[in-house]
Amino acid sequence: MKILSSTLIILVVVLFIINLIPVNMSNPPITSDIKTPDIVKKILRESCYDCHSNETTWYWYTEYAPISWLIAHDVNEGREYLNFSTWDKYSVNEKNELMYESLEEIQEGEMPMKIYELMHPNSKINKDELNTLTMWIKNEYGEIKLNKLGDD
Ligand code: HEC
Repeated sequence: MKILSSTLIILVVVLFIINLIPVNMSNPPITSDIKTPDIVKKILRESCYDCHSNETTWYWYTEYAPISWLIAHDVNEGREYLNFSTWDKYSVNEKNELMYESLEEIQEGEMPMKIYELMHPNSKINKDELNTLTMWIKNEYGEIKLNKLGDD
């Protein structure tokens, strides 16, 4: 009993201390949001924007270390790979590649990340949504240009 309560006290103190470490959970400015029809934007917002835009919703459970470290890491990494809020910084070919890569990631069940889908069941992309995205991407960005998919 004594050991249990001292372990608990140590745990609380450790949690308290690690929560004093600042974590970067910011939303930088949006320079140019990707332009899409509303029906497409709704899908991207619901499933991708928390990690691939500068409009992240930082939910309550994201605020406490060590969870905050994991989430901030995913968001920062996600933004590095693909950021819909700075869409003008990509070339035409990069946009084409990012969109076709997105389709592939969704088809393979890699995106949205599994853990995120668990916390946000609405984010899972169903067949209709995938069709909508595919049709819009073909229409907007043409056929696939860079055949780099599967390289990594
Ligand atoms: C919970 C955060 C999160 C969500 C939600 C999320 N992603 Fe990601 N995404 C990441 C992270 C982290 C990476 C980089 C590491 C990796 O590839 O797993 C990434 C990488 C990617 C890549 C680059 C893959 C590569 O290896 O080059 C694409 C494309 C992508 N995501 C598309 C999407 C799309 C489309 C959605 C919505 C359907 C989405 N992601 C939702 C976090 C997320």
